[in-house]
Amino acid sequence: MKMIQKNNAQRAKDHLFAAQQTYYEQPLTLVDGEGTRIRDDEGNEYLDAFAGICTNTLGYGDTEVARAVAAQAKELIHVSTLYLTEPMLDLAERVADIAPQGMTKSFFSNSGSEANEVATLIARTSSSKKSGDLLSLDHAYHGRTAYTVALAGQSQWRNFATQMPHVAFVPNPYCYRCPLSMTYPSCDIACAKYAKRVVESQTDGAPAAMIAETISGVGGIITPPPEYFRVLKETLAPYGTLLIADEVQAGWGRLGDGWFGMVSSYGVVPDIITSAKGLASGFPIGITITRPELADTFKGPHINTFGGNPVASRAARVTLDVIEKRSLIDNCRIQGDALMAGLRDLAMTHSVVGEVRGKGLMIGVELVQDRGSKRIAPDLATSMLEEMRKRKVLIGKGGRYGNVLRIQPPYIFGAEDVNEFLEAFEESLAALR
Ligand SMILES: Cc1ncc(COP(=O)(O)O)c(C=O)c1O
Repeated sequence: MKMIQKNNAQRAKDHLFAAQQTYYEQPLTLVDGEGTRIRDDEGNEYLDAFAGICTNTLGYGDTEVARAVAAQAKELIHVSTLYLTEPMLDLAERVADIAPQGMTKSFFSNSGSEANEVATLIARTSSSKKSGDLLSLDHAYHGRTAYTVALAGQSQWRNFATQMPHVAFVPNPYCYRCPLSMTYPSCDIACAKYAKRVVESQTDGAPAAMIAETISGVGGIITPPPEYFRVLKETLAPYGTLLIADEVQAGWGRLGDGWFGMVSSYGVVPDIITSAKGLASGFPIGITITRPELADTFKGPHINTFGGNPVASRAARVTLDVIEKRSLIDNCRIQGDALMAGLRDLAMTHSVVGEVRGKGLMIGVELVQDRGSKRIAPDLATSMLEEMRKRKVLIGKGGRYGNVLRIQPPYIFGAEDVNEFLEAFEESLAALR
């Protein structure tokens, strides 16, 4: 094992921004990993059910990714978007093959935030109105640049002045805590129809775009009902408002039924898709995908120093090939269903589990004081992270109230991992009280 200097909590305090808040009372320093396992600097091995925030698609130490990256790094690491490279073109063509019909153009960047900025730039450029108002969802999270912070629908992520652009918020389809105090399905998806009221009362009447995560990840794995995006799209159509699907978390098969969740799980083709995170199995990458007629309304010039980086592009290409070759989208569905069933069983005997929701390997467990009152329990969520760590399993946390556990493991999660996870989860729940 590699030698790591001790007292990393102090080193971080001395030399990293305080804003970089880490998980756990005693921060974890990670050293290396293999498959679904990752080790810390004290030699402890953990089952990783969070994948470095929903990103390490193929887990750790995948030989095909490692080999491709090493070979590419030797050939060419960087040239910028001012030049073409074979890996960049190859990835763009592969994405065009698997993207919804007609979405044949991509712009590469380095992160989800950048991918979303490009998406809103395209939408605003193509909009008939110059004001370029935007719609976003209550509980949304789209990144940490100034622009994407303005799109955040959670106060804890709107933590600095956001003067640009004008964003109005549509209620999130958060059925467990319905913002309109209704019940699915008798609600008739009133939250999506409410977008009409938001457009007419809070914008210039023709917002350039509405951005929505397919499943709100940071917002607490809020999972819309099946008809949601169809009704939303129909509601927005009269205003010429484009739909941007933020698939930074839900893209590339994580939902277990196709490459892009909004298309495969909800049957809706958006106008623009943005993604990042899992596309390159952990290499920094961002992508904005759309139809040629939309892409080409944005004349630029536009540049991104590291966009389309040959090494990241190779890593992404190999990741997509491996997902396909090893039928990992099916695995997301199979292991996701098993995890969900096991968690729902546990919910029956643990009244702090308010709801288990999600799709494929994107699962949320909302913790409450007790199921009857639904009172939020953020302290219990923090304790669950610590209890799971004691049992050598890593999970994440989110939600506007910080009370939703996030389970978003690598796509290679196996049946044994599921059993081990559920055992640790049950023991951790029991240890809470
Ligand atoms: C849905 C979604 N969009 C955008 C982002 C921003 O991505 P990045 O951190 O790569 O800028 C994130 C990050 O968590 C995200 O979850």
